[in-house]
Amino acid sequence: MIPLARPVLGEAEERAVLDVLRSGQLSLGPRVPAFEREFAARVGAGWGSAVSSGTAGLHLALRAVGVEDGDEVVTSPFSFVTSANVALYERARPVFADIDPVTLNLDPEAAAAVVTERTKALLPVHIFGYPADLPAFERVADRRGLAIVEDACEALGAAHADGTPVGGRGHPAVFGFYANKQITTGEGGIVTVGDEALKARIDSERNQGRAPDMGWLDHDRLGFNYRLSDIACALGLAQLERLEEMLAARARVAGSYREALTGIEGLGLPCADSGGARRGWFVFVVQLPCGVDRDATVCALAAQGIQSKPYLPAIHLMSFYRERFGHREGEFPVCEDIAARSLALPFFPGLSEGEVTRVAQALREAIGR
Ligand SMILES: Cc1ncc(COP(=O)(O)O)c(C=O)c1O
Repeated sequence: MIPLARPVLGEAEERAVLDVLRSGQLSLGPRVPAFEREFAARVGAGWGSAVSSGTAGLHLALRAVGVEDGDEVVTSPFSFVTSANVALYERARPVFADIDPVTLNLDPEAAAAVVTERTKALLPVHIFGYPADLPAFERVADRRGLAIVEDACEALGAAHADGTPVGGRGHPAVFGFYANKQITTGEGGIVTVGDEALKARIDSERNQGRAPDMGWLDHDRLGFNYRLSDIACALGLAQLERLEEMLAARARVAGSYREALTGIEGLGLPCADSGGARRGWFVFVVQLPCGVDRDATVCALAAQGIQSKPYLPAIHLMSFYRERFGHREGEFPVCEDIAARSLALPFFPGLSEGEVTRVAQALREAIGR
């Protein structure tokens, strides 16, 4: 079976983890700040706070910019569900706006149109690693006095048109390290920030509300256990060492897919980099031609030993969101059309040319083109 994803793990990772095990300091040790420094430097951010998941990072980032009960957070309906859920953790409301049909990212104009006096923050998602139009969101935020939190969980290695790496514009930006991501720590995430006071708050809240200079059992604010262990951070440091090589391999696989799939009538491919923006390749998601049965396509690929997955469903049409907020079909037509036709194909650095050809051939046969 060709899987959807497979991490690159080798002797360096084994050695790094073994070193931590042998040191006896499995948490709250030196690998955490070392990983934070290395990561922040890689994306041009001032500081980083390592956390237990991308979700934990988004939660703490929203708290850090002051989102609270009754606020609204404007975000994308075409994302992994957590970028909307985190607003609900703080009893704020996620407010959706439609996406750009080319980049599949939240459309800044559509987002601006749903801002109200209750809006506290914009939460653009760099979906599938393609950078959202941050300069446009920054203009909206400046005009309306809003904070920005970036969901960069899929976007390590991406850069904006002006060359700034995603995560390096000063807003809290959250990266994820689940096993299918550009680098993995098993589970994990990091919040990069451009303000040391925000780092101090996030560091405290991820660690049960402790201040760094306080006794172990004193707590001066509400906190959580969202810590990332030294074992995970050691793994992250080893993965960062091979980041450029893995990003290049992902870009190479994406290029092979593009070559193999170009010209199939009606098939939508990930948008090419444009205007200087650069994608940090995370997944290879195609939109099936209108009228093609996606479930049957998944079954046909599986019969050929190829994993694939509908990815992503529209958040507002998930049963929880329908029931809680009364969302219905037709609210965000671009998102709904894209979500209904999207299919993730196997994509990871070690995918060979031969495997890409096999997937492309099987896809052509499955959709009858
Ligand atoms: C866009 C997006 N946001 C947030 C997350 C959440 O990250 P985690 O699974 O580490 O909590 C993911 C992870 O899959 C994601 O793809």
